[in-house]
Amino acid sequence: MSRERIVSGEQVTPEEDRVHLSLRPKKLSEYIGQNEIREKIKVALQAAKKRKESCEHILLYGPPGLGKTTLAHIIANEMGSKLYSTAGPALQRTGDLMGILTNLNDGDILFIDEIHRLSATIEEFMYPAMEDYKVDFVVDKGAFAKVINVPLKKFTLIGATTRAGMLSAPLRDRFGLYYHLDFYPPHELKEIVTRSADLLESKIDSAAAEIISLRSRGTPRIANRLLRRVRDFADVKSDGNITEDIAIKALDTEGVDSLGLDNLDRKLLEVIVKFYKGGPVGIEALAATLNEETDTLVDMVEPYLLKTGFIQRTKRGRMVSEKAVKHLGLTLPNDNSSQQSML
Ligand code: ADE
Repeated sequence: MSRERIVSGEQVTPEEDRVHLSLRPKKLSEYIGQNEIREKIKVALQAAKKRKESCEHILLYGPPGLGKTTLAHIIANEMGSKLYSTAGPALQRTGDLMGILTNLNDGDILFIDEIHRLSATIEEFMYPAMEDYKVDFVVDKGAFAKVINVPLKKFTLIGATTRAGMLSAPLRDRFGLYYHLDFYPPHELKEIVTRSADLLESKIDSAAAEIISLRSRGTPRIANRLLRRVRDFADVKSDGNITEDIAIKALDTEGVDSLGLDNLDRKLLEVIVKFYKGGPVGIEALAATLNEETDTLVDMVEPYLLKTGFIQRTKRGRMVSEKAVKHLGLTLPNDNSSQQSML
């Protein structure tokens, strides 16, 4: 269900991937926002280049759509390195990984998305690869089994995850550089929207770029997606120019409200208010009531609602805030004594 959300930070279709790729910055100097991380990466890359070494392994974590993959590509580009891309769930057997690792050259980058979803076996296989640039590969079975020690070239692993907490400590500790990407403030998203509109050769008003940035949940991928929908609307319903009025009409039509909430966000908040008297309620109970996967709520719905203070996470479960109740135009039932005592 959440796959169809226009405000999901996840990548949706190969077509979107193609358009997104064309908007993606290729150099650090083109990258907008995450200033501290950008500066740290710049120093790390310059140091590695100066020493003629490969860069240390890098872990990028944060909600979907904030630019983890983009940064990995930029790092490869800035280092003049080749990037090989895979994802945690795609690496099922050590043989698959062996093939990839042994083909890497000095300085090459291996990008593993969703690295928290590596199996325990694959994770353990990675430890010596990351630490000592070698792998212990078991050939044959039973009495004939033997371990062969295969040396590797000095590659850089870039891992990306939405859940740093789900990484085992030994894997986490093998990353030398560790960057947490946070939601972008509206003024940076506005810059991104303006840059993207320029690349798409669309005329956009400053006020329209601001409307899109305010409804993008702090997420560049969503900002670019909303921009494309607004641009379609402007082409079909108007003269192609993206004005404030067109942006508001287009996004209202898409069900994206003034603060970027969509139907699923509003339903989640409403369920807490109406069924659970404002909370607290456990995430599993919420997922069951909404007929959604718990992971969907945790990865794709909650982060922005938490960040903006629409919900709070307590030991006893999720609670809506007064701000959320007001935004929805609702009132809390009178006997919400449990909520009052928590606030
Ligand atoms: N497009 C997507 N993310 C971006 C970013 N952080 N800077 C510039 N353009 C982008």
